[in-house]
Amino acid sequence: MQISIIKEISSREQRVAASPESVKLLLRLGADVLIEKGAGDLSGFVDEFFQSVGAKIVNRTECLKANICLCVQMPSKEDIDKMNDNTILVGILNPYENKNSFSDLINNKITACCMELIPRISRAQSMDVLSSQANLSGYRSVIDAAEQFGKAFPMMMTAAGRVNPAKVMVLGVGVAGLQAIATAKRLGAVVSATDVRIATKEQVESLGAKFIMVEDEESQNAETSGGYAKEMSEEYKKKQSQLIAETISKQDIVICTALIPGKPAPVLVSEEMINTMAPGSIVVDLAVEAGGNCPLSKLGEIVIHNSVKIIGHANVPGRVAKDASALYAKNIVNFLSLFIKKDEKKIDIDWNDEIINAVVLTHNGVLKLEEFK
Ligand code: NAI
Repeated sequence: MQISIIKEISSREQRVAASPESVKLLLRLGADVLIEKGAGDLSGFVDEFFQSVGAKIVNRTECLKANICLCVQMPSKEDIDKMNDNTILVGILNPYENKNSFSDLINNKITACCMELIPRISRAQSMDVLSSQANLSGYRSVIDAAEQFGKAFPMMMTAAGRVNPAKVMVLGVGVAGLQAIATAKRLGAVVSATDVRIATKEQVESLGAKFIMVEDEESQNAETSGGYAKEMSEEYKKKQSQLIAETISKQDIVICTALIPGKPAPVLVSEEMINTMAPGSIVVDLAVEAGGNCPLSKLGEIVIHNSVKIIGHANVPGRVAKDASALYAKNIVNFLSLFIKKDEKKIDIDWNDEIINAVVLTHNGVLKLEEFK
């Protein structure tokens, strides 16, 4: 059984689907591990690291012929065409945006597994790439803000005078938002946060930040059974907008992380609100890839509006590529452990498993997931 890791082709992707640590674990599962030459260069995992733990460095074509092929983003049509029938392809395949690849996966009888569709159940926590990557995005958003901010984060009492602490507000308190709060607190900022899910109040306060939100009847039911936010009514949005408008003018830094699964990101920070912020303030829009929480943010750019910088970096986990790759690679090993029988060194997929059924997009020439039919 061969497991390969290919080099990413997108110029925006710095991550790789393996680390020396994950290679050791894959070898322990009884596989031969093939790494495409230079696959880990951008994340700081050079070929020698992989070789020293027992992987073989090979060319792309050899990688594409393995039984299981690991990647971060969807490979090209040419790559998929070179794979053998029944290859198991594992990646963050983004089926919502990559519908044009479905026919290639189907025609080549690829078993395509979308890691971002891992269900958020306790048994699958160690495979949850959304969490492992969002956590690093939350961290990086604060570092990116600090880099662009012309002032310090912590309060400093010096002989030359006092430096006031930075005021940071986090919009959306999921995995990324919580890590943004924790990071900003560690740097010494005064932090506040808001969400539509009342359950986040306790989490925000346990990190030592101030929680604000519009609390009404609707906010009591703003969470789906899966723990995600619902889209709120126009009336709620108006009240929330008023609350944010009142608070934002006093902030130095706003970190936007609010998302609603399957929908465009909610608009929370308007141009009028940005106009009330002091020159030199920073907005980081982590939701930019889903349309943005701020209509002024642009994917892959830092927009300057009225001397306020609005940061819209693409692929933020890729900006912490070494840790993001290592955690992603570990998520994959845990996923593969579901169906690799290490004693027999063979692949045995249990088609009744809830996790398998949630992530396998195509198998044996058939599109499996109803949602994409
Ligand atoms: P997400 O990335 O979908 O959204 C980020 C945050 O934005 C959420 O907290 C959401 O409530 C908030 N939001 C949406 N609309 C908003 C609005 N109009 N105003 C303000 N905030 C808004 O969320 P993420 O990070 O994926 O977490 C979603 C849930 O999943 C959470 O309850 C989390 O605890 C849970 N979770 C469960 C896991 C497990 O059981 N394995 C693992 C990770 C997260």
